[in-house]
Amino acid sequence: MVTISHLTVNGLREPGGLRPPLELGWFLESDRRDVRQEQIRIQVLKGDGDIPAQDSGWMPETRCTGVPVPLPDPGPGPVHLRLRLRVRAAGEESPWAEIPLTLTLAPGTWQGDFISAEPEEDRGKSYGTLLRRTFSVTGPLKEAWLVSTAHGLYHPFLNGQRVCRDEMMPGWTSYRHRLQFQTFDVTALLHPGENAIGVMLGAGWYKGVMGFKHQRNHYGTCTAFAGQIILRYRDGREERIGSDGKWKGSPGPVVFSEIYDGEVWDGRLEQPGWASPGFDDRAWTPVRKVEGDFSALIPQEGPPVRVMERIPVQAMFRTPQGDRVLDFGQNLTGWCETVLEGCRPGQELELQFFEALDREGNVYTENLRGARQTLRHICRGEGREVCRPWFTFQGFRYARVISFPGELRPQCFTACVVHSDLEETGWFSCSNPLLNRLWENIRWSMKDNFLDIPTDCPQRDERLGWLGDIQAFAPTATFLMNTDAFLRKWLGDLAADQNGDGSVPHVVPDILTGHVGEDQLLDGNAFQGGASGWGDAAVVVPWTLWQVYGDTEVLRRQMPSMLSWLSYLDAHAQGCQVEAGDQFGDWLALDAEPGSYKGATPDSYCCAAWYCHSTALVASMLKAIGREEEGRALEEKAGALRQDFCRRYVDRQGSLTIQTQTAHVLALAYGLVPQPLRPGLAGRLKQLLEEAGHLTTGFLGTPPLAGVLSENGCLEEAYDLVLREDWPGWLYQVKRGATTIWEHWDGQKPDGTMWSADMNSFNHYAYGSIGEWLVSTVGGLERDEAHPGFERFVIAPRIGGGLTWAEVKFLSPRGPIRIRWEQQGEQVVLQVEIPPCSRGEIRLPQGEEIVDGDTLAFREGRTQAPSGSYRIVWRRKTS
Ligand code: BGC
Repeated sequence: MVTISHLTVNGLREPGGLRPPLELGWFLESDRRDVRQEQIRIQVLKGDGDIPAQDSGWMPETRCTGVPVPLPDPGPGPVHLRLRLRVRAAGEESPWAEIPLTLTLAPGTWQGDFISAEPEEDRGKSYGTLLRRTFSVTGPLKEAWLVSTAHGLYHPFLNGQRVCRDEMMPGWTSYRHRLQFQTFDVTALLHPGENAIGVMLGAGWYKGVMGFKHQRNHYGTCTAFAGQIILRYRDGREERIGSDGKWKGSPGPVVFSEIYDGEVWDGRLEQPGWASPGFDDRAWTPVRKVEGDFSALIPQEGPPVRVMERIPVQAMFRTPQGDRVLDFGQNLTGWCETVLEGCRPGQELELQFFEALDREGNVYTENLRGARQTLRHICRGEGREVCRPWFTFQGFRYARVISFPGELRPQCFTACVVHSDLEETGWFSCSNPLLNRLWENIRWSMKDNFLDIPTDCPQRDERLGWLGDIQAFAPTATFLMNTDAFLRKWLGDLAADQNGDGSVPHVVPDILTGHVGEDQLLDGNAFQGGASGWGDAAVVVPWTLWQVYGDTEVLRRQMPSMLSWLSYLDAHAQGCQVEAGDQFGDWLALDAEPGSYKGATPDSYCCAAWYCHSTALVASMLKAIGREEEGRALEEKAGALRQDFCRRYVDRQGSLTIQTQTAHVLALAYGLVPQPLRPGLAGRLKQLLEEAGHLTTGFLGTPPLAGVLSENGCLEEAYDLVLREDWPGWLYQVKRGATTIWEHWDGQKPDGTMWSADMNSFNHYAYGSIGEWLVSTVGGLERDEAHPGFERFVIAPRIGGGLTWAEVKFLSPRGPIRIRWEQQGEQVVLQVEIPPCSRGEIRLPQGEEIVDGDTLAFREGRTQAPSGSYRIVWRRKTS
């Protein structure tokens, strides 16, 4: 029997507040083999009704991802819709499957202004304000909506209740060009008669301090709210209550709040009932209308940020220096919720959050640099007080209890893990427990750094969308979780923030360009963008989304941005040699000169390699969206660039003129040298690793390193590298008890001392990019670049490193893929699951003897397997 599961709209399982165009995705499930979809039928239903407003009829369709939804005129919105889908596959018809969604307000129909309770002179302050307004519901409601956004961060309430469990709204985007608004069905929160809406506002990314130069007011000088309640009555009437002059405002109990520094709540300033109808707001002042650009409004594109997990205190202890410390056992991003009871007014709770203990076991906060990461709660002094911050988050494993009212009990504290609500899609495990912990650490660093935008780290005074980091991590991220909508949203901001000359800023949303001046870390770089391996995220991230999710829409949308990045490079290039931009080179590589963060591989080499690589990637993406001719022309250009690369960097003997590990890795990973030269380069890379005794690669060289080795006949060397348990290796940090991925190989050295405090995050996903190698090489799940979206893929476990089994599971866009291999004496048992509408090419190690091919015919260890489950047994070659 064929069934449909896992419906998504625009990559979202819970599609709320969208606008067309809409794209549908789904899984087909069947217990039979070789199932292929032939036809589909989509119906669109409005409200609860059963009569379709639109019916596509049966139509031929082999895709089950990125399929456009035919929509009736949605009207002005918001409106509830249901999409229904049925498919014909393998001679069967599936039952209907359904997904509800809401379409939000059409652009241009917004009512209301941006209103603020902050005076202009408070531009330098970050505190919370409250806004409120009452309104009447004058009859039985059919439905009611709140559509809203803010400058700053906001939490909406109706009749005293929170409207949603989403946090950090409206998210972080390139606010001047793109400000997201949210859409909530609030019917259940309203009642006939008098009602009230209340809004808490805080500074957040909009006006608070951001960036390592601690500048503020990046987007504006005061917080503001804009929104409207839409009341639709059963009798057909519609009323709108916008953010207008009838609202009143007041300072609230959040007396201080900053992303880096934390929050102070003064419970004595609480105003019970402030968001309810009967509240006496005579002391409140009328709001003022402030500037706001309604043309920048867009419906929320990414998944909401939420409290995703709650973790109790694992241990409570006193440090040698006498500090009381709570240990949550896991480095995480979010906040601590504390429940207090029976306190006196004015008593205080104060907690400072941090990631690591120093050698002596004392509180270590130096690596937070200028981020105070402190929460303070001044007690109201009545009953139960639940303390949590509203407009900030911290990166921490530990909390130092600076003050606590009453008897300190671990049960009072809960760590709330906060990140974008992304669906987990990828799992890896194997017979080596240290590798399994490494995998967990990668997963955690992803969760901790996917809070609305992909950040470098969540704790020190950065937390910025650094492009080099996500460029390195995107392949692993797309396996771990469904990041399609999340990264598409971020790419929209990348394009919006791209400079006029096509250069791409270093961070997105961009708060650095023109704001950093001479930075001591970067030898006076102007921070205009344009760094190789960083700016190239503009190309690599869409390419990865296309490869993993089969998403060509993102290619169409990002193509102007990609082409403009290439034209920036072209404008500054002589042959393959680009001279422009601020360069980070092979950032943090171990072959750097003392005192420098840049590795020994020259900038010019890194730039040339990336220029060739990105040009080739864009060529393939142009072809994928039907721009064949342009694609071919660019492909030719990429070929010419590679030739020039070889002229410049390959000597007569066929060796590279740059003798660093990273130089070899980039040339091999990006196919920059002709095939016959590859074995020589791989051999030299092996030698360089032996000579140094370890890897010396940085942000550019490390992500492809293990793959380059295993793809070029050095599988055991790749395993040695990844399984290395001392410095500098991935398992060194695991053995030191790391619970997330470190920025530095020796963040904490074997003697317990720390690497320099100015650049020492314990939660940086960049080197977590090794996750891709674990999945593809150890687990054996590889994408087939010619067939994106797992229409076809490769199953090729490469056994080594003393492992006896490994397993990967991936919820691909076509359904679950599972691969498990296990060594049983002389034999290896391989179990695979290939989803309908997909094909797996199984590649066994050469020369192995197949004991049981489970109906599949192998030629030279290879076969094409149609969808279904298989169990294959082979005997290992004994040499
Ligand atoms: C960030 C990095 C980033 C780098 C740029 C650092 O401060 O934390 O991860 O990519 O600067 O070189």
